[in-house]
Amino acid sequence: MSFRILLLGFGNVGHNLVSLIDSRRDLLKKDFGLELSVVGVGTRSKGTIYKESGLELGSLLRSENFTGRVDSASQSGFSVGLAVEDLLSDGEYDLLVETTPFQIESGQPAFSFLEKALKREKHVVTSNKGPIFHYFHEIRELAFSKGVKCLFEGTVMAGTPLFSFASECLCGCEIQSFEGVVNGTSNYILGLMSNGSGFDDALLEARRRGYAEPDPVLDVDGWDSAVKASIVAQAVMGASYIPFEEMEVKGIRSVSPRMFEEAQRFGGSVRLVAGVERDNGAFRIRVRPSVLPSNHPLHSVSGVTNGALFLTDTLGEVCVTGAGAGSRETAYAVLRDIITVWKRREQKR
Ligand code: HSE
Repeated sequence: MSFRILLLGFGNVGHNLVSLIDSRRDLLKKDFGLELSVVGVGTRSKGTIYKESGLELGSLLRSENFTGRVDSASQSGFSVGLAVEDLLSDGEYDLLVETTPFQIESGQPAFSFLEKALKREKHVVTSNKGPIFHYFHEIRELAFSKGVKCLFEGTVMAGTPLFSFASECLCGCEIQSFEGVVNGTSNYILGLMSNGSGFDDALLEARRRGYAEPDPVLDVDGWDSAVKASIVAQAVMGASYIPFEEMEVKGIRSVSPRMFEEAQRFGGSVRLVAGVERDNGAFRIRVRPSVLPSNHPLHSVSGVTNGALFLTDTLGEVCVTGAGAGSRETAYAVLRDIITVWKRREQKR
Protein backbone atom coordinates (compact mmCIF):
# COMPACT_ATOMS: atom_id res chain seq x y z
CA MET A 1 0.00 0.00 0.00
CA SER A 2 1.56 3.32 -0.98
CA PHE A 3 1.87 6.47 1.12
CA ARG A 4 -0.13 9.04 -0.81
CA ILE A 5 1.09 12.62 -1.24
CA LEU A 6 -0.99 15.63 -2.21
CA LEU A 7 1.38 18.37 -3.36
CA LEU A 8 0.43 22.05 -3.29
CA GLY A 9 2.70 24.36 -5.29
CA PHE A 10 4.75 23.31 -8.28
CA GLY A 11 7.49 25.94 -8.35
CA ASN A 12 11.14 24.96 -8.21
CA VAL A 13 10.80 23.16 -4.87
CA GLY A 14 7.73 21.16 -5.94
CA HIS A 15 9.34 20.26 -9.25
CA ASN A 16 12.57 19.13 -7.58
CA LEU A 17 10.65 17.14 -4.99
CA VAL A 18 8.78 15.18 -7.64
CA SER A 19 12.05 14.56 -9.44
CA LEU A 20 13.70 13.32 -6.20
CA ILE A 21 10.76 11.02 -5.41
CA ASP A 22 10.86 9.64 -8.95
CA SER A 23 14.60 9.01 -8.97
CA ARG A 24 14.83 7.56 -5.42
CA ARG A 25 11.91 5.17 -5.69
CA ASP A 26 14.06 2.04 -5.27
CA LEU A 27 16.09 3.47 -2.42
CA LEU A 28 12.96 4.54 -0.50
CA LYS A 29 11.47 1.09 -0.90
CA LYS A 30 14.68 -0.73 0.02
CA ASP A 31 15.75 1.41 2.99
CA PHE A 32 12.40 2.34 4.52
CA GLY A 33 9.78 0.11 2.95
CA LEU A 34 8.27 3.35 1.66
CA GLU A 35 6.34 3.44 -1.59
CA LEU A 36 5.38 7.02 -2.34
CA SER A 37 2.68 7.98 -4.77
CA VAL A 38 1.79 11.56 -5.68
CA VAL A 39 -1.97 11.52 -6.14
CA GLY A 40 -2.52 15.20 -6.82
CA VAL A 41 -0.83 18.49 -7.57
CA GLY A 42 -2.59 21.78 -6.90
CA THR A 43 -1.25 25.14 -8.03
CA ARG A 44 -2.46 28.72 -8.38
CA SER A 45 -1.24 29.33 -11.91
CA LYS A 46 -0.29 25.96 -13.46
CA GLY A 47 -3.59 24.13 -12.98
CA THR A 48 -4.43 21.09 -10.87
CA ILE A 49 -4.29 17.37 -11.53
CA TYR A 50 -5.53 14.43 -9.47
CA LYS A 51 -5.44 10.68 -9.92
CA GLU A 52 -6.44 8.44 -7.07
CA SER A 53 -4.11 5.60 -8.00
CA GLY A 54 -1.10 7.94 -8.31
CA LEU A 55 0.28 10.14 -11.08
CA GLU A 56 2.98 9.01 -13.48
CA LEU A 57 5.76 11.32 -12.32
CA GLY A 58 8.05 11.21 -15.36
CA SER A 59 5.18 12.28 -17.58
CA LEU A 60 4.13 15.02 -15.13
CA LEU A 61 7.66 16.46 -15.07
CA ARG A 62 8.06 16.31 -18.85
CA SER A 63 4.75 17.93 -19.64
CA GLU A 64 5.28 20.69 -17.06
CA ASN A 65 8.71 21.35 -18.59
CA PHE A 66 7.19 21.70 -22.05
CA THR A 67 3.96 23.54 -21.30
CA GLY A 68 4.52 25.18 -17.91
CA ARG A 69 1.34 23.47 -16.64
CA VAL A 70 0.68 20.42 -14.50
CA ASP A 71 -2.71 19.71 -16.05
CA SER A 72 -1.29 19.05 -19.51
CA ALA A 73 0.00 15.60 -18.55
CA SER A 74 -2.24 13.11 -20.27
CA GLN A 75 -2.67 10.13 -17.91
CA SER A 76 -5.51 7.66 -17.89
CA GLY A 77 -8.03 8.09 -15.08
CA PHE A 78 -6.97 11.57 -14.05
CA SER A 79 -9.03 14.68 -13.30
CA VAL A 80 -8.02 18.26 -13.94
CA GLY A 81 -9.47 21.65 -13.06
CA LEU A 82 -10.41 20.82 -9.46
CA ALA A 83 -10.11 23.70 -6.99
CA VAL A 84 -7.25 23.42 -4.51
CA GLU A 85 -9.81 23.59 -1.68
CA ASP A 86 -11.66 20.58 -3.14
CA LEU A 87 -8.45 18.59 -3.52
CA LEU A 88 -7.73 19.27 0.15
CA SER A 89 -11.16 18.42 1.45
CA ASP A 90 -12.19 15.57 -0.89
CA GLY A 91 -8.90 14.09 -2.14
CA GLU A 92 -7.69 10.71 -0.86
CA TYR A 93 -4.22 11.32 0.52
CA ASP A 94 -2.12 10.57 3.64
CA LEU A 95 0.21 13.54 3.67
CA LEU A 96 -0.04 17.10 2.38
CA VAL A 97 3.17 18.68 1.06
CA GLU A 98 2.78 22.43 0.97
CA THR A 99 5.28 24.49 -1.07
CA THR A 100 3.19 27.51 -2.05
CA PRO A 101 4.78 31.01 -2.07
CA PHE A 102 5.92 32.65 1.19
CA GLN A 103 3.58 35.45 2.33
CA ILE A 104 5.42 37.21 5.13
CA GLU A 105 2.57 39.39 6.36
CA SER A 106 0.05 36.72 7.25
CA GLY A 107 1.22 33.23 6.34
CA GLN A 108 -2.03 32.88 4.39
CA PRO A 109 -3.45 31.19 2.39
CA ALA A 110 -0.87 28.50 3.27
CA PHE A 111 -2.07 28.26 6.88
CA SER A 112 -5.63 27.57 5.77
CA PHE A 113 -4.34 24.71 3.55
CA LEU A 114 -2.39 23.19 6.42
CA GLU A 115 -5.33 23.61 8.79
CA LYS A 116 -7.72 21.91 6.41
CA ALA A 117 -5.45 18.88 5.99
CA LEU A 118 -4.69 18.58 9.72
CA LYS A 119 -8.38 18.76 10.58
CA ARG A 120 -8.86 15.77 8.26
CA GLU A 121 -6.11 13.96 10.22
CA LYS A 122 -3.64 14.15 7.38
CA HIS A 123 0.08 14.57 8.06
CA VAL A 124 1.64 17.78 6.79
CA VAL A 125 5.13 18.71 5.54
CA THR A 126 5.81 22.29 4.52
CA SER A 127 8.78 24.31 3.32
CA ASN A 128 6.81 27.53 3.73
CA LYS A 129 8.05 29.89 6.44
CA GLY A 130 4.88 32.02 6.52
CA PRO A 131 2.44 29.66 8.26
CA ILE A 132 5.07 28.25 10.63
CA PHE A 133 6.23 31.72 11.69
CA HIS A 134 2.71 33.07 12.29
CA TYR A 135 0.92 29.93 13.51
CA PHE A 136 3.54 27.57 14.93
CA HIS A 137 1.67 26.95 18.21
CA GLU A 138 -1.78 26.56 16.62
CA ILE A 139 -0.37 24.10 14.08
CA ARG A 140 1.47 22.08 16.70
CA GLU A 141 -1.60 21.81 18.92
CA LEU A 142 -3.90 20.93 16.06
CA ALA A 143 -1.52 18.23 14.77
CA PHE A 144 -1.15 16.81 18.28
CA SER A 145 -4.91 16.76 18.91
CA LYS A 146 -5.45 14.90 15.62
CA GLY A 147 -2.60 12.44 16.20
CA VAL A 148 -0.70 13.48 13.05
CA LYS A 149 2.67 15.05 12.32
CA CYS A 150 3.58 18.45 10.90
CA LEU A 151 7.25 18.88 9.93
CA PHE A 152 8.91 21.94 8.42
CA GLU A 153 12.68 21.27 8.10
CA GLY A 154 12.93 23.14 4.78
CA THR A 155 11.80 26.45 6.31
CA VAL A 156 15.27 27.21 7.74
CA MET A 157 18.69 26.25 6.24
CA ALA A 158 17.09 24.42 3.31
CA GLY A 159 18.20 20.75 3.42
CA THR A 160 20.73 21.15 6.22
CA PRO A 161 19.27 19.58 9.37
CA LEU A 162 18.38 22.13 12.00
CA PHE A 163 15.05 21.09 13.53
CA SER A 164 15.72 17.37 13.22
CA PHE A 165 19.23 17.95 14.60
CA ALA A 166 17.92 19.92 17.58
CA SER A 167 15.08 17.53 18.35
CA GLU A 168 17.10 14.33 17.89
CA CYS A 169 20.60 15.31 18.94
CA LEU A 170 20.11 18.10 21.47
CA CYS A 171 17.09 16.62 23.23
CA GLY A 172 17.44 16.86 26.98
CA CYS A 173 19.72 19.93 26.73
CA GLU A 174 18.52 23.44 27.35
CA ILE A 175 19.29 25.65 24.39
CA GLN A 176 20.27 28.91 26.02
CA SER A 177 20.79 31.00 22.90
CA PHE A 178 20.97 30.72 19.13
CA GLU A 179 23.00 32.56 16.52
CA GLY A 180 22.52 31.83 12.86
CA VAL A 181 23.62 32.85 9.41
CA VAL A 182 20.31 31.79 7.94
CA ASN A 183 19.89 33.88 4.81
CA GLY A 184 21.87 32.48 1.90
CA THR A 185 21.21 35.48 -0.35
CA SER A 186 22.63 38.04 2.11
CA ASN A 187 25.61 35.87 2.90
CA TYR A 188 26.32 35.35 -0.79
CA ILE A 189 26.05 39.12 -1.43
CA LEU A 190 28.31 39.95 1.54
CA GLY A 191 30.90 37.50 0.17
CA LEU A 192 30.90 39.19 -3.25
CA MET A 193 31.01 42.64 -1.63
CA SER A 194 34.00 41.70 0.50
CA ASN A 195 35.78 40.92 -2.78
CA GLY A 196 34.95 44.34 -4.20
CA SER A 197 31.53 43.93 -5.90
CA GLY A 198 28.91 46.63 -5.53
CA PHE A 199 25.67 45.82 -3.69
CA ASP A 200 23.43 45.99 -6.80
CA ASP A 201 25.64 43.72 -8.92
CA ALA A 202 25.92 41.21 -6.09
CA LEU A 203 22.13 41.18 -5.59
CA LEU A 204 21.59 40.67 -9.31
CA GLU A 205 23.91 37.66 -9.24
CA ALA A 206 22.11 36.17 -6.20
CA ARG A 207 18.78 36.57 -8.00
CA ARG A 208 20.21 35.03 -11.15
CA ARG A 209 21.25 31.97 -9.15
CA GLY A 210 17.74 31.65 -7.70
CA TYR A 211 18.69 32.19 -4.05
CA ALA A 212 16.68 35.36 -3.43
CA GLU A 213 13.01 35.58 -2.50
CA PRO A 214 10.71 36.92 -5.26
CA ASP A 215 10.90 40.16 -3.25
CA PRO A 216 14.61 40.32 -2.33
CA VAL A 217 13.92 43.13 0.14
CA LEU A 218 13.00 40.31 2.55
CA ASP A 219 16.50 38.89 2.20
CA VAL A 220 18.63 42.03 2.22
CA ASP A 221 16.66 43.95 4.85
CA GLY A 222 16.86 41.08 7.31
CA TRP A 223 13.17 40.05 7.47
CA ASP A 224 13.73 36.56 6.11
CA SER A 225 16.40 36.02 8.79
CA ALA A 226 14.07 37.41 11.47
CA VAL A 227 11.27 35.03 10.46
CA LYS A 228 13.70 32.08 10.53
CA ALA A 229 15.09 33.09 13.95
CA SER A 230 11.53 33.30 15.23
CA ILE A 231 10.72 29.81 13.93
CA VAL A 232 13.82 28.50 15.74
CA ALA A 233 12.83 30.37 18.91
CA GLN A 234 9.32 28.92 18.87
CA ALA A 235 10.08 25.39 17.68
CA VAL A 236 13.34 24.70 19.49
CA MET A 237 13.51 27.08 22.45
CA GLY A 238 9.87 27.24 23.56
CA ALA A 239 9.22 30.91 22.74
CA SER A 240 5.77 32.34 22.09
CA TYR A 241 5.04 34.14 18.85
CA ILE A 242 6.99 37.41 18.70
CA PRO A 243 5.59 40.05 16.33
CA PHE A 244 7.90 41.97 14.00
CA GLU A 245 7.48 45.19 16.05
CA GLU A 246 9.19 43.49 18.98
CA MET A 247 12.25 42.35 16.99
CA GLU A 248 15.36 44.38 16.30
CA VAL A 249 16.08 43.96 12.57
CA LYS A 250 18.80 45.56 10.50
CA GLY A 251 19.75 44.26 7.04
CA ILE A 252 22.89 44.36 4.94
CA ARG A 253 22.24 47.71 3.24
CA SER A 254 23.74 49.30 6.35
CA VAL A 255 27.08 47.49 5.90
CA SER A 256 29.80 50.09 5.28
CA PRO A 257 33.18 49.62 3.56
CA ARG A 258 34.63 50.25 7.01
CA MET A 259 33.05 47.01 8.33
CA PHE A 260 34.74 45.00 5.56
CA GLU A 261 38.05 46.74 6.32
CA GLU A 262 37.72 45.95 10.00
CA ALA A 263 36.91 42.30 9.23
CA GLN A 264 39.89 42.04 6.87
CA ARG A 265 42.23 43.59 9.41
CA PHE A 266 41.50 40.75 11.86
CA GLY A 267 41.13 37.95 9.30
CA GLY A 268 37.41 37.82 10.12
CA SER A 269 34.26 38.32 8.07
CA VAL A 270 31.04 40.30 7.89
CA ARG A 271 27.92 38.14 8.37
CA LEU A 272 24.23 38.90 8.78
CA VAL A 273 23.67 37.23 12.15
CA ALA A 274 20.20 36.35 13.46
CA GLY A 275 20.19 35.83 17.20
CA VAL A 276 17.72 34.54 19.76
CA GLU A 277 18.46 35.31 23.40
CA ARG A 278 16.63 34.50 26.58
CA ASP A 279 15.91 37.62 28.58
CA ASN A 280 14.31 37.12 32.02
CA GLY A 281 11.89 34.46 30.86
CA ALA A 282 11.19 36.27 27.58
CA PHE A 283 12.97 35.95 24.22
CA ARG A 284 14.70 38.62 22.20
CA ILE A 285 15.26 38.36 18.44
CA ARG A 286 17.92 40.48 16.86
CA VAL A 287 19.17 40.49 13.26
CA ARG A 288 22.15 42.64 12.33
CA PRO A 289 25.33 42.65 10.27
CA SER A 290 28.26 41.76 12.48
CA VAL A 291 32.02 41.53 12.15
CA LEU A 292 32.95 38.01 13.26
CA PRO A 293 36.50 37.19 14.35
CA SER A 294 38.30 34.32 12.63
CA ASN A 295 37.73 31.98 15.60
CA HIS A 296 33.96 32.44 15.57
CA PRO A 297 32.20 29.22 14.42
CA LEU A 298 30.11 31.15 11.88
CA HIS A 299 33.12 32.93 10.33
CA SER A 300 33.79 30.15 7.83
CA VAL A 301 30.13 29.93 6.72
CA SER A 302 30.61 31.52 3.32
CA GLY A 303 28.60 32.01 0.14
CA VAL A 304 25.15 30.50 0.16
CA THR A 305 26.06 28.23 3.06
CA ASN A 306 24.16 28.71 6.32
CA GLY A 307 25.17 28.00 9.89
CA ALA A 308 23.35 27.50 13.18
CA LEU A 309 25.19 27.90 16.46
CA PHE A 310 23.38 26.64 19.56
CA LEU A 311 24.65 27.48 23.02
CA THR A 312 23.51 24.63 25.27
CA ASP A 313 23.71 24.15 29.04
CA THR A 314 25.28 20.69 28.67
CA LEU A 315 27.45 20.62 25.55
CA GLY A 316 28.43 24.28 25.32
CA GLU A 317 28.48 25.45 21.71
CA VAL A 318 27.27 23.14 18.95
CA CYS A 319 27.36 24.32 15.34
CA VAL A 320 25.74 22.89 12.21
CA THR A 321 26.60 24.25 8.77
CA GLY A 322 25.55 23.36 5.24
CA ALA A 323 23.55 24.39 2.20
CA GLY A 324 21.18 27.21 3.13
CA ALA A 325 19.21 28.03 -0.01
CA GLY A 326 18.37 26.37 -3.30
CA SER A 327 15.34 24.50 -4.52
CA ARG A 328 16.88 21.03 -4.77
CA GLU A 329 18.28 21.36 -1.25
CA THR A 330 14.88 22.51 0.06
CA ALA A 331 13.13 19.71 -1.82
CA TYR A 332 15.49 17.26 -0.11
CA ALA A 333 14.44 18.70 3.29
CA VAL A 334 10.83 17.96 2.33
CA LEU A 335 11.71 14.43 1.25
CA ARG A 336 13.53 13.82 4.53
CA ASP A 337 10.49 15.08 6.46
CA ILE A 338 8.25 12.71 4.47
CA ILE A 339 10.54 9.80 5.38
CA THR A 340 10.48 10.89 9.05
CA VAL A 341 6.68 11.08 9.08
CA TRP A 342 6.55 7.61 7.52
CA LYS A 343 8.93 6.20 10.14
CA ARG A 344 7.02 7.82 13.02
CA ARG A 345 3.50 7.50 11.69
CA GLU A 346 2.42 5.21 14.51
CA GLN A 347 4.00 7.28 17.29
CA LYS A 348 1.79 9.61 19.31
CA ARG A 349 4.49 12.35 19.59
N1 HSE B 1 15.85 33.57 0.11
C1 HSE B 1 16.18 32.61 1.10
C2 HSE B 1 17.66 32.68 1.39
C3 HSE B 1 15.80 31.25 0.57
O1 HSE B 1 18.37 33.30 0.62
O2 HSE B 1 18.12 32.14 2.39
C4 HSE B 1 15.82 30.16 1.59
O3 HSE B 1 14.89 30.41 2.63
